[in-house]
Amino acid sequence: MTPAPPPCFTHGLALAPMAGYTGSPFRIICRELGATGLVTEMVTAAGVSRRSVKTMRSIRFDPMERPLGIQLFGARPGDFARSAELVADLGFSFIDINAGCPVKKVLKSGSGSALLRDLPRLAAIVRETSAASPLPVTVKIRLGFTPEEPLSEGVCEMLCDAGATALTIHGRYRSDMFGGSVDLAGLERLSGRSPVPVVANGDVRTPEDGRRLMSLKGVTGVMVGRGALGNPWIFRRLSGGAASPAPGELRSVVMKHLDLTLADGAGSGAVHSFRGHLIHYLKGFPGAAGLRDAAVRVNSREDVAELVETAERRVFG
Ligand SMILES: Cc1cc2nc3c(=O)[nH]c(=O)nc-3n(C[C@H](O)[C@H](O)[C@H](O)COP(=O)(O)O)c2cc1C
Repeated sequence: MTPAPPPCFTHGLALAPMAGYTGSPFRIICRELGATGLVTEMVTAAGVSRRSVKTMRSIRFDPMERPLGIQLFGARPGDFARSAELVADLGFSFIDINAGCPVKKVLKSGSGSALLRDLPRLAAIVRETSAASPLPVTVKIRLGFTPEEPLSEGVCEMLCDAGATALTIHGRYRSDMFGGSVDLAGLERLSGRSPVPVVANGDVRTPEDGRRLMSLKGVTGVMVGRGALGNPWIFRRLSGGAASPAPGELRSVVMKHLDLTLADGAGSGAVHSFRGHLIHYLKGFPGAAGLRDAAVRVNSREDVAELVETAERRVFG
């Protein structure tokens, strides 16, 4: 029988996969601050099955991230089956199938949330992935393509019959992209009928938001996306700890995040790629607009340290 995914993913606080943000460095930062469930950003099943250098590079991780899931996207069951054969040997703990990405380019290939309109294909992908790997398989879905064509209540049973051992449900429709508010009733309509654990996702920014999702029938865990950008402390807060960084903590966390990024081998581009995170870290500080302007111009580790110290001084003196 296929094992269940780790309870730290299904029954805890998971960091949502966010392409461009949740590489190994940020996952480590979030794990240290209380994120129990981690999964890689989406990578193409075809790329993994071919062991493409770029794809393999993007899925490198630190052993302390385990148990870690790998998220695959694609449209051809055979690609998933071939990559599923490889990933247990790479040290991943479970395989997550992306059936929620709303981006046009992804949809054009029949992947991501296009699969919500082609459930037989999604079922075949889940079936072939589970058959090819000893690892548990999970699926990340949305509520449907549009509110006018919601997924049927039995979709969780169908995915479970195909081999899924847990589901993540983002409580929006593809047509919402990332806007609008989460449809809690729509989420519970699906989670309430799920035979396997459901991780609920969408708009968690406060402990109350987390509790609201956890109160839905069938929901066993919560996943946080944008609320964690620049605010990995959200995981500490959701587990009952302090909400804001203590004096000096912003600097230590940001610099550790940057150092992990530099060590990850992105070379001189690492500081530039870090600007996206830095902007988020500086949100909400007095004079945030000026800090943001400076953040998009940092070129060195020293620039980052100086900027973060400036921000901290404005709060703690
Ligand atoms: C920049 C960005 C990149 C994302 N990349 C992925 C991805 O690679 N895989 C995936 O399943 N979802 C991806 N998502 C969706 C998130 O995992 C999550 O479902 C969504 O942001 C809703 O959660 P939130 O309201 O807490 O942000 C991405 C979202 C954002 C904003």
